[in-house]
Amino acid sequence: MCGIVGYIGTDHAKEKIIDGLKRLEYRGYDSAGIALPINGSIEIRKAVGEIKNLESKISEAEFDSSVGIGHTRWATHGKPTEANAHPHGNMEQNIAIVHNGIIENYQEIREWLATEYGIKFKSETDSEVIAHLIGLYYDGDLLAAVNKAVAEMKGAYAVAAIAAEEPDKIVAVRKDAPLVAGIGKGFNFIASDIPAVLKYVQDVYLIENNETVVLTKDNIVIYDENGNTVKRDVYPVEWKADAADKADYDHFMLKEIHEQPKVIRETLMNRLNEDGSIRLDDISMTKEDIENFNKIYIVACGTAYHAGLVGKMVIERMAKIPVEIDVASEFRYRDTFIDDNTLFIAISQSGETLDTLEALRDAKSRGARILSVVNAVGSSIARESDDVFYTLAGPEIAVASTKAYTTQLICMYLIGLYMGSTRGTMDKEYYDRVLDELKALPGKVEKILYSEEKIKDMAKRYHFNDHVFFIGRGLDSGVSYEGSLKLKEISYIHSFAIAAGELKHGTIALMDSETLVVALATQDILYDKMVSNIEEIRARDAHVIGLAKEGRTEVEKVSNEAIYIPECIDEVAPVLAVIPLQIFAYYVALERGCSIDKPKNLAKSVTVE
Ligand code: F6R
Repeated sequence: MCGIVGYIGTDHAKEKIIDGLKRLEYRGYDSAGIALPINGSIEIRKAVGEIKNLESKISEAEFDSSVGIGHTRWATHGKPTEANAHPHGNMEQNIAIVHNGIIENYQEIREWLATEYGIKFKSETDSEVIAHLIGLYYDGDLLAAVNKAVAEMKGAYAVAAIAAEEPDKIVAVRKDAPLVAGIGKGFNFIASDIPAVLKYVQDVYLIENNETVVLTKDNIVIYDENGNTVKRDVYPVEWKADAADKADYDHFMLKEIHEQPKVIRETLMNRLNEDGSIRLDDISMTKEDIENFNKIYIVACGTAYHAGLVGKMVIERMAKIPVEIDVASEFRYRDTFIDDNTLFIAISQSGETLDTLEALRDAKSRGARILSVVNAVGSSIARESDDVFYTLAGPEIAVASTKAYTTQLICMYLIGLYMGSTRGTMDKEYYDRVLDELKALPGKVEKILYSEEKIKDMAKRYHFNDHVFFIGRGLDSGVSYEGSLKLKEISYIHSFAIAAGELKHGTIALMDSETLVVALATQDILYDKMVSNIEEIRARDAHVIGLAKEGRTEVEKVSNEAIYIPECIDEVAPVLAVIPLQIFAYYVALERGCSIDKPKNLAKSVTVE
């Protein structure tokens, strides 16, 4: 949830680190800091709030070095104050560290360090103990001291450390939190995420769990937990450097909304052979495995969970297997019925969401086969899965997920199609029809994007509403949850999604002239029922924005406003229906002057339970 960047080379480290931190700000942004080794000591500067606050504190010429580490934080232990911001130093101020993750036994270590060694702590964080532990074990060899410190630590961490006496190296270590080493010429980087270094390097090493890495300006050496050097293949990053830039857009969210035609096409075409069959050269699941599955669990959090809601219905319809869907934090603590014939599908953009990862581990230990749908290559969820369907969404920087969601939906269709055709539960004609409809989606999404101005005007009219409801039936009900989440997370408007048929079992009591309802009516099979639901709401004076396929004009007659999506089969409508909802959320938030890419209290990747 926080971001790490370290640089070692011949240039001004602080400039490289600030640039990398800005690219990671989406991961956490309540405070930030930088540590540099200067004249035999470690100098640390920190600031609360956005990176620009830190920039103003590091401008003096003396604060300079060609080596350094930096951090942008999303508070877990202790408030977002300067004292709690990273980097943390030891008492002698000759060691500094930055840390992502959680040290579970930090209280124990803290007490031990305080009682045995009289160490005084400056922060309330779990992370500070790491600096003191390394300091305690340091006798001129940073690598050895980091290894000794790590042996005391329980939890999840990516740590980067520097020592004043060894300004020619950065030592970093990983356990259950992402870490990459960026390979340059005459310089190297360490970072928690690829976008931080994309401007400077095209090749990285993905650091594995329990590995330590030592970076000098000309070398990167990786060690396993027994201290043996590890030969790691170079991972060429296919993302373009500008993929992590805003280009001409005002916000990453808007840019990412507009990237959807491209990333949907890429995610789909990457998996299609010329004859329309699904390409699975990297998937080890056999025909027999698929025939033997008797149950599927889809588990995810937030937006990824909403993709799973649609995935459940699509896979059930196509492959005729019962699919259960759950949020990861609930799945882990209830009775589930997993055996060797269970398929567990984890969906995650970051591939690092801790609840999803732990649910996966639990299902795996009980015999389930693990298939994940992940965007971040080499992430923990991807690595711990038997098979991975990558969403080729590229880096998603805005905290509110958009293009990851639509590419997750594409993977759900591909999985449904593949399982349905393998199990013989869908005929060729239906398979071909769905495939044709999927291939037509990028063009149809583009068409919806042309109506951006209309939705922007709508946002101007409705951004005052304090309560917004999203309703739908069938596949639309899954999309209404996503529309509602988008709106609340970036505009801070209270919004609520509910299956349209449930409305009259209680929630309709809230409908009055102050209420806005966004009613999704894209499912032909449920269209008439939705029209009746809208009429019931209008009878209570609530305002309704109806969303339907082109030509379904009844919706316009019963609603105050209508948004149309291009004609399509019901199955693929979620990919189209969500686009106006994303645009609506964006412009409502803009009208309300909200911090769109970095909403308050949120972080891009939730690596705590
Ligand atoms: C909302 C959003 C979050 C994430 C959720 C899961 O816009 O982005 O709800 O979807 O935190 O994250 P991943 O997909 O990285 O597991």
